[in-house]
Amino acid sequence: MEQKYLINCDHVSKAFETPEGVFQVIEDLNIKVRENEFLVLFGPGQCGKSTILNTIAGFEPVTGGEITVNGEKVTKPGPERGVVFQTTALFPWLKVMGNVEYGPRMRGVPKKERRARAQHYIELVGLQGFENSYPIKLSGGMKQRVGIARAYCNEPLVMLMDEPFGHLDAQTRYLMQEELTRIRQLEKRTVIFVTNNIEEAVYLADRILVLRNCPTSVKAEYEIDLPRPRSYTDPEFLRLRREIDSVVDHTL
Ligand SMILES: Nc1ncnc2c1ncn2[C@@H]1O[C@H](COP(=O)(O)OP(=O)(O)O)[C@@H](O)[C@H]1O
Ligand SMILES: [Mg+2]
Repeated sequence: MEQKYLINCDHVSKAFETPEGVFQVIEDLNIKVRENEFLVLFGPGQCGKSTILNTIAGFEPVTGGEITVNGEKVTKPGPERGVVFQTTALFPWLKVMGNVEYGPRMRGVPKKERRARAQHYIELVGLQGFENSYPIKLSGGMKQRVGIARAYCNEPLVMLMDEPFGHLDAQTRYLMQEELTRIRQLEKRTVIFVTNNIEEAVYLADRILVLRNCPTSVKAEYEIDLPRPRSYTDPEFLRLRREIDSVVDHTL
């Protein structure tokens, strides 16, 4: 039987017009994502990771090729694609509950139903007791938890996560990697997760795509079948980490 892919980037290219001329960021990129897969896009800084995610999210049009999500061609953003950025732009005038229920509220989901759904995701990310806190009162890790709950609350087909833990201190980052693993075991989701941190990639991924330097495309692919929860110091973890890191285009 033919494998069903939820997301398909087919010969995608992306160029920006700049004052200095055309700048090619993506060139002949091919990615297929299976349902419920945790796919990590791993590549050096400035290689085009965010640009890839932004084209899948529908924030940026492709200049060549085609992206489909669940068989539909991507032309604009949509609620079936949830996005979590490095710094989550929460609405400062809304409490945690207001932020998490925002998407369903905008789509007219009745209050009782959306409150129950938001409460479920607030608890899932470990923020029970903070429903009535304003974002300014929250730490960086807690803000990212709100961002994850908000994205989940739209019940998207796929979560697009762009270095969501990149701005956190090392301790909080480890904790959030564990938390994301826990959350995903409770609520299966298809995730495309961007990082330039090899340890994070091996810890989280079902599969890692190593990206080339700009103009980017897929350079190498690794299935990661280590059991979860994973250990950062397990010999096989360390071996994979070394092996995958060695194929990355290193830049200054
Ligand atoms: N809107 C834009 N116009 C022109 N160049 C851009 C634009 N967005 C990104 N770029 C360029 O594309 C390259 C890749 O950027 P980005 O996708 O943000 O990389 P990464 O997320 O891997 O760090 C960079 O050189 C960046 O300057
Ligand atoms: Mg980026």
